[in-house]
Amino acid sequence: MAEDYKKLTNEVGAQVPDNENSITAGPRGPVVMQDVWLMEKMAHFNREVIPERRMHAKGWGAYGTFTVTNDISKYTRAKVLQPNTVTNTFVRFSTVAGERGAADTERDIRGFACKFYTEEGNWDLVGNNTPTFFIRDVHNFSDLNRAVKRDPRTGRRSAQNNWDYWTLLPETFHQRTITMSDRGIPASFRNMHVYGEHTFSFYNEENERVWCKFHLLTQQGIKNLTDEEAEKIAGMDREYHGKDLYDAIERKDYPKWTMYVQIMSEEQAKNHYENPFDITKIWRHKEFPLIEVGVLELNRNPENYYAEVEQAAFSPAHVVNGIGFSPDKFLQGRLFSYGDAQRYRLGVNHNHIPVNKPKVQANEYHRDGAMRVDGNFGGISAYTPNSYGYWAAQPDVSEPPLDLEGAMYRFDPNDDPTDDNFRAGGDLYRLMAEDKKELLIENTVRNMGDAHDNIKYRHSVHCYWADKDYGERMCKALGLDLNRVIELSAGDHKSLIAATLDIVS
Ligand code: HEM
Repeated sequence: MAEDYKKLTNEVGAQVPDNENSITAGPRGPVVMQDVWLMEKMAHFNREVIPERRMHAKGWGAYGTFTVTNDISKYTRAKVLQPNTVTNTFVRFSTVAGERGAADTERDIRGFACKFYTEEGNWDLVGNNTPTFFIRDVHNFSDLNRAVKRDPRTGRRSAQNNWDYWTLLPETFHQRTITMSDRGIPASFRNMHVYGEHTFSFYNEENERVWCKFHLLTQQGIKNLTDEEAEKIAGMDREYHGKDLYDAIERKDYPKWTMYVQIMSEEQAKNHYENPFDITKIWRHKEFPLIEVGVLELNRNPENYYAEVEQAAFSPAHVVNGIGFSPDKFLQGRLFSYGDAQRYRLGVNHNHIPVNKPKVQANEYHRDGAMRVDGNFGGISAYTPNSYGYWAAQPDVSEPPLDLEGAMYRFDPNDDPTDDNFRAGGDLYRLMAEDKKELLIENTVRNMGDAHDNIKYRHSVHCYWADKDYGERMCKALGLDLNRVIELSAGDHKSLIAATLDIVS
């Protein structure tokens, strides 16, 4: 043990004579206020819990490297993506709905957040283990989380709330199918693919823009758990996925993912048959093939969970020169939300916490604020513009202008004639082998549990619209009347909802 850690001191370095016996007035008397070390110890303990992340509260992290193996410089000038560049990274995996103490093996999507400490500042890729998402408007996000988290009356998770919400929004269908499939419970974080999900942009040295999507495919192969296996594990080890990742890294069995991008030109985007900026849609690989970029390897465990994993703060707003956003309105909402959550969860100076701190100097001219523990830029001028030459903006990193069109309005994507919420889910079902289809149906039935039959009808009709066989099997497994499913499926989504609104048993 290091010499530094051998002697107990108080919070400001003075020696502490006793850490077990309180000072009392007499051998059997009450504690005195003068036991200041005791007061300090109790007061600090009471403040050791910070708010958990509003979602993705349960997670595990590891450091690693990202090595570029291909040349995609014709698309992006980002230094982190230039051939042979090696960049240090920190990754955090998470479940979404469960709180900080939840079991790792719940059926849920998994979060994947990667911080690239690039020489041009930090780039955070904050994604999930699915290529798409449940919803597409920021307005829906807090409601989604309220529906999948705890019921306000009982304090328990509720299949009724969860499936009521999902089935009222047809755009959730594809993600519902993925979550209920065998991929809904990965065997480990190492055995799943991860995705950026949104459409992002790249721009190159010529200041030309393309749209892109990120895919990181596991080199360990896909492996999943059945509901039965997951339940058993949850009863024995709630930290199963955390342990798996930690142990693999300790035994030097470093997990790796190959990063690919899909690229769509601005022209292609204008003519695409569905909205390329809708996160509930995917870009088909046949039309937009995967282009290899590089390899992410995780090879070092954190030294301290709280300091490095709990205090890690990722934000989709953190991009670097050569990588940009897109008109995806769901992404746009996220650009505000993360920093806002972290100012509350960790404080205004959370980017100074070592795990969040960029490896290059941040010259952002923010000053002061709670827990400003560095030199606070000393006497350097605090305003800009100034005549001293500080804080000069860097116009050479400007991205190309983006032409936009149309009126400002609350557009409902369901009114877009190109919008099809069931095509991708149906394609996925048809791609599944028979045993996977069976699992999908069984998992869904278990997951819908005691939800009202009308909600089950809605889901079955959605399945029927996606694929007749999917709908018929779902209907049968849920013990519903196929004639009613066929009858309901003759109308549109509005009439389906109108006919199934009564969900009070
Ligand atoms: C408008 C939609 C969304 C909003 C408003 C939102 C908001 C948030 C917030 C506030 C947090 C907690 C941040 C913190 O306390 O540090 C969070 C965590 C997270 N979100 Fe989202 N989110 C949205 C959609 C998504 C999507 C589409 C993805 C995946 C593509 C995603 C992936 C994640 C991940 C992985 C984390 C955990 C990050 C970590 O490990 O610290 N979120 N989100």
